[in-house]
Amino acid sequence: MHYRNNPAAVSALVRPTEVHKDLFIDDEIFELEMEHLFANTWVYVGHASQVPNPGDFYTTTIGDQPVIMVRHTDKTIRVLHNRCPHKGVMVAADTCGNTGKFFRCPYHAWTFKTDGQLLSVPLKKGYDPDVFKACEASQGMAPVQNVRDYRGFVFCRLSAEGQSFDAFFGESLSTIDNMVDRSPAGELQVAGGVLRYLHDCNWKMLVDNQTDTCHPMVAHESSAGTAVRVWEEAPEGTPKPMAVEQFAPFISPYEFFEGMGIRVWENGHGHTGVSNSIHAAYSPVPAYLEAMEAAYGKERTQEILGDTRHNTTYFPNIMVKGPIQTLRIFKPLAANKTLVESWTFRLVGAPDKLLERTLMYNRLINAPTSVVGHDDHEVYERSQHGLHSRGRDWVNVARLYESDEAGRKNEITNGTSEWQMRNQYQAWARYMTATMKETA
Ligand SMILES: [Fe+2]
Repeated sequence: MHYRNNPAAVSALVRPTEVHKDLFIDDEIFELEMEHLFANTWVYVGHASQVPNPGDFYTTTIGDQPVIMVRHTDKTIRVLHNRCPHKGVMVAADTCGNTGKFFRCPYHAWTFKTDGQLLSVPLKKGYDPDVFKACEASQGMAPVQNVRDYRGFVFCRLSAEGQSFDAFFGESLSTIDNMVDRSPAGELQVAGGVLRYLHDCNWKMLVDNQTDTCHPMVAHESSAGTAVRVWEEAPEGTPKPMAVEQFAPFISPYEFFEGMGIRVWENGHGHTGVSNSIHAAYSPVPAYLEAMEAAYGKERTQEILGDTRHNTTYFPNIMVKGPIQTLRIFKPLAANKTLVESWTFRLVGAPDKLLERTLMYNRLINAPTSVVGHDDHEVYERSQHGLHSRGRDWVNVARLYESDEAGRKNEITNGTSEWQMRNQYQAWARYMTATMKETA
């Protein structure tokens, strides 16, 4: 099957209750995702606290596109394609740093302002001014036109035309709001570095997994289950370690996950943990409560801390955990390769204990050296291999399907429903084909 220039064939890969295996294993589908899906959607770039001062920059990728997030001299955050207009060299090679007032290409020393404009070219007299002006190179490094800093979270849309940021995210932004509001100062800072974990599987398997509540008690029985068993054998009176507090909810029974609920928003976003979550029963940190009440008052503090959402998926490729201040990015590298980045945030004005909890969570659950993450990695790899089987062609997402669900918005449902997965795949088909031209 050829999918390029064939939007009907791409759309046919997503049925109401099942999706075709080519979404995960086909190289052409992966290429089209990079060209269309990751251009038409608002994709997370990084956090404003990574570039606090003018000239600070951070390099990353949007789909397969190398970009630089930089704080311009006017203090706004810009996103530039990381490509010298001269010979194509990636201008910024380091992950982060301060470039001063301009970027300088390491090949021929062409320089660019931090909004991408060409600043200088050595031996410029060798170029006829009219000839040079007509060249693409005279336009400098290409800026990404559509960039939005939402409470410190920077997103961009590579396509010049398309849906606005507000229309794309809608009410789902309430998860970011809640995470930021958890700081008594209303501010987050990236802290504790980033944990990078290479996965031999398609990026969408990880996105799926974020709202898959029927797997923890099965896949994590050997890790989280063992931790809890060891704890149960500890002598009476032993204080409960933070690690056990974080492991224990993973092996909660089905009823727990059914009861916590899933909320589905438009355009592929959604979250688990509406009324309860695996983060709801952590020990209180008294000094934190005091700081929050001083900042927001008792009532509002209860409202903020009482919202203990579990995983919020922001389509296409990040997951945010508000109550524990983590963000994971599922960076697509190939149809069968994904780089998972797990980031942690400090709540400005909160006691260090909160950062400690966040860091421990990421180490235990998400890091390449974690205990829980490998359980998932093992099943993703086995899926990536298994999907090449010619015995079956489809991946099932039919759990608790209702035929009229597609038209309903911001709905809450049973926490073990696969509605959010269906929501993601419907959005996938839409954003994949929105800019795809059909050729005869
Ligand atoms: Fe898992």
